Amino acid sequence: MPVTVQGAKPRAWESQVKSYVRKRYAHLAEAHAFPEGGAGRAREAGYPARFIDGLPGRVSAAYCGCGYLLDGVDLEGVRTAVELGCGAGLDARLVSERLDAGASLIALDIAPQMLHRAREALAGVRSSARPHLLAGDMENVPLADGIADIVLANASFNLTVDKRKALIEARRILKPGGRLIARELIREGELPVEIARDPQAWNASLGGVCEEAEWESLLADAGFDEVEISGHAPFRPVVSVRIHARKTDLGEAN
Ligand SMILES: C[S@@+](CC[C@H](N)C(=O)[O-])C[C@H]1O[C@@H](n2cnc3c(N)ncnc32)[C@H](O)[C@@H]1O
Repeated sequence: MPVTVQGAKPRAWESQVKSYVRKRYAHLAEAHAFPEGGAGRAREAGYPARFIDGLPGRVSAAYCGCGYLLDGVDLEGVRTAVELGCGAGLDARLVSERLDAGASLIALDIAPQMLHRAREALAGVRSSARPHLLAGDMENVPLADGIADIVLANASFNLTVDKRKALIEARRILKPGGRLIARELIREGELPVEIARDPQAWNASLGGVCEEAEWESLLADAGFDEVEISGHAPFRPVVSVRIHARKTDLGEAN
């Protein structure tokens, strides 16, 4: 079995998991095989009902996030937003609607098939913001240092095999003073053994789930300041949280 959630990592473990994740999300996007009830989950998470009700059914059904990413987030003054692991583009659409005229959104995903879905989601958005879709790995972001005012991610860091690397990348592409806003899953204690031993757990965002204290040290190690983890909400068998952090170091190049 190539994926073990606990214990020693087999050889080539990282690339195997990444390939599983990419294939799984490519399949979900192509076959429209998303977990049922996407629109309902988004509504329950607090997305504005008017926004969700106004979406084509195919777009809202493809929502795979773990919370309302933009809850309380002011995008005024943001010139460049980057979303990591944008999936089928529901948040990308909402961000585009809320950005100032002339601002840019770069929405990145490792599965090109997801980007096709995101293109669909962004079609017909009444916004003067400019969306760009980018195929890439958030552990090695194909963007220059210091380009983003805000980096967004909804339920995607947990799918990376190296969260530390992904967080360092998120900080690298932020401008000094820029914000990281993520919605993620944490566990409170050990996961039930049947989940911990499930080789598909990574695909379901559970294999990589860690405790809040581990998130705090990962964010600190990556160089983030003003870290705030809040908005705990049950997301059985784990908990969804809002992560806000800032790149405050004004004196360094990245
Ligand atoms: C659980 S889905 C969430 C999608 C979207 N954020 C949403 O809220 O609907 C996670 C997304 O992250 C993408 N992903 C996983 N690992 C990635 C990586 N290393 N780099 C970029 N995207 C990744 C997957 O392809 C998938 O589209």
